[in-house]
Amino acid sequence: MSATRNHTTCRIGVAGLGTVGSGLLAFLAERPDYAPAGGRVVVTAVSARSRSRARPVDISHLAWFDDPVALAQSPDIDVFVELVGGSDGPAKAAVEAALQAGKAVVTANKALIAEHGAELAALAEARGVPLLFEAAVMGGVPAVKTVREALVGEDIQSLSGILNGTCNYILTEMEASGSAFADVLAEAQRLGYAEADPTMDVGGFDAAHKITILAALAFGGSPNFAAAEIQGIANVDLLDIRLAGDLGYRIKLIASAERAGEGARVRVRPFLIRKSHPIAQADGALNALYVEGRRIGRIFLQGPGAGAGPTAAAVAADIADVMVGGCRPVFLSPALELRPCAPPEGVVAEGRGYIRVMVRDEPGVLASVSEGLAEAGVSIESFLQKPPGDTPGVPIVMTTHAVAETVLEAAVSRIGRLPAVLEPPRLLYIAGI
Ligand SMILES: NC(=O)c1ccc[n+]([C@@H]2O[C@H](COP(=O)([O-])OP(=O)(O)OC[C@H]3O[C@@H](n4cnc5c(N)ncnc54)[C@H](OP(=O)(O)O)[C@@H]3O)[C@@H](O)[C@H]2O)c1
Repeated sequence: MSATRNHTTCRIGVAGLGTVGSGLLAFLAERPDYAPAGGRVVVTAVSARSRSRARPVDISHLAWFDDPVALAQSPDIDVFVELVGGSDGPAKAAVEAALQAGKAVVTANKALIAEHGAELAALAEARGVPLLFEAAVMGGVPAVKTVREALVGEDIQSLSGILNGTCNYILTEMEASGSAFADVLAEAQRLGYAEADPTMDVGGFDAAHKITILAALAFGGSPNFAAAEIQGIANVDLLDIRLAGDLGYRIKLIASAERAGEGARVRVRPFLIRKSHPIAQADGALNALYVEGRRIGRIFLQGPGAGAGPTAAAVAADIADVMVGGCRPVFLSPALELRPCAPPEGVVAEGRGYIRVMVRDEPGVLASVSEGLAEAGVSIESFLQKPPGDTPGVPIVMTTHAVAETVLEAAVSRIGRLPAVLEPPRLLYIAGI
C-alpha cells in the first residue's frame, strides 16, 4: 500500500472480469473511497481470458496481464483479487503465487477454499498475509463474517440453509408453474440463471462447497469437502412437490452441518421443510441460513446469494478489512494446528421420512405397505392417499417418525419389492429444524 501524507492508496489487481469482476470494477469506479480505514482503493491491473472481449466497464487505462499468475506476482499491486473460479487451474496457481509473494488475497471462489483451504491457509499464515473469502458463501450475505467473527464466542451446534440460488429458483418455479424439473432448468438456462453445464449447481456440489467452508469456520477444523454427503435436485419430482405441499411442506435443497459426536455431519439434500419455517419461505434465487447455538438460540440470515452488485460488495468488504489491517487465522485456529473437520464416527443418523409409493389401485395394498414398514421397524406418522388420476397407479404417501436412516432406507427398498408396487418408492427426508 502506498501512502502520502494524507492519502493511502490500496492497489488492486483483479483476475477475472466476468459477473463479479466487472461488478467490482464498476463499484470501485463509483466509490473508490468507501473503505472505513480511509484512503482509496484503485484497480491498477487486470487479467482475463480474452483481452478483446467487450466489457461492461472500461479497462483501457489498466495494465493487462494474459496470465493471472504474473498479475498475482506484480510488484504494482498490494492486494490480489481472484474472481476466475474453479478449484484448480489458473485460480489456484495465481492465489498461491500471490501468497508466496506476500500479497493479501481476496477471493469469491468457494470451490478453491473448500477443496484447498487448508494448504492455502498455511501458506497465507506463513507469509503473514490475509486470505479472505466473504463472497464465496452466500454472495452478498455476510455469512462468513457472521460465523467466523461475530459468533466466535458461541458454541455453534448446527447450520442449515439454502446456499444455491439456482436450485432454489428451480424448485420455486416448479412449484409455482407446475412444470417439470427439466423444463424449468431449460428455461433457467435460457434466462441465464443456470449455467450451460448445470452439474455444479443442480448436483448439489456448489452448496456442498459452501457448507464445507461454514462447517470449518463454525466447528474449528479445515474444510473437508471429501467428507460431505451430497445429493442434488435432479430427482425431485413435481408430484412430490405437490404432495409435500398437501402435507404442509415445501421441498428445498438444504445444506447442513451439525455436530455429531466428536465430528460434524456435513450434507446437502433435498428436504421437506414446514411451510411456516423461515427457510421454506426463502423463494426464487434467495439464499438463507439458519444458525443454532447454545447461547444465541437461533439466528436467521437471508439475502442475495449471487449477482454482480451483492457479490462485489462482499469482495469490497474483504478489501476494506485488508486496509484496516490485522491478520487473524484464516479458519478458527492457526493452520498448522488444524485437522480436517472430522466426519461423524459411530453416530447413527436419524431422520423422519416422506415416502411416496405408486401402487395398483386394489384392496389390501395399503395394509401390505404399512405392514412392510412396521415389520422393518418404521413407525408411520401420517398417511395421505390421493384418488386415481391420469397415472397408471395411485400414490400413497406416508411420513414417518424419526428412525435410523439405514433402517428407513432398507424398509423403503423392501416395500419396493411388493407385487402391487409399480415403481421404486421415493424417499425424501423431513428437515429436523
Ligand atoms: N456470479 C456470482 O454471482 C457469484 C457469486 C458468488 C461467488 N462467485 C464466484 O466468483 C468467481 C467468479 O464468478 P463469475 O460469475 O464472475 O464468473 P464468470 O462470469 O464466468 O467470469 C470468470 C472470469 O474469469 C476469466 N477467466 C477464465 N479463465 C481464465 C484464465 N485462464 N485466465 C484468466 N482469466 C480467466 C474469464 O475471462 P473472459 O471474460 O475473458 O472469458 C472471466 O472474466 C467464481 O469463483 C464464482 O464461484 C460468483
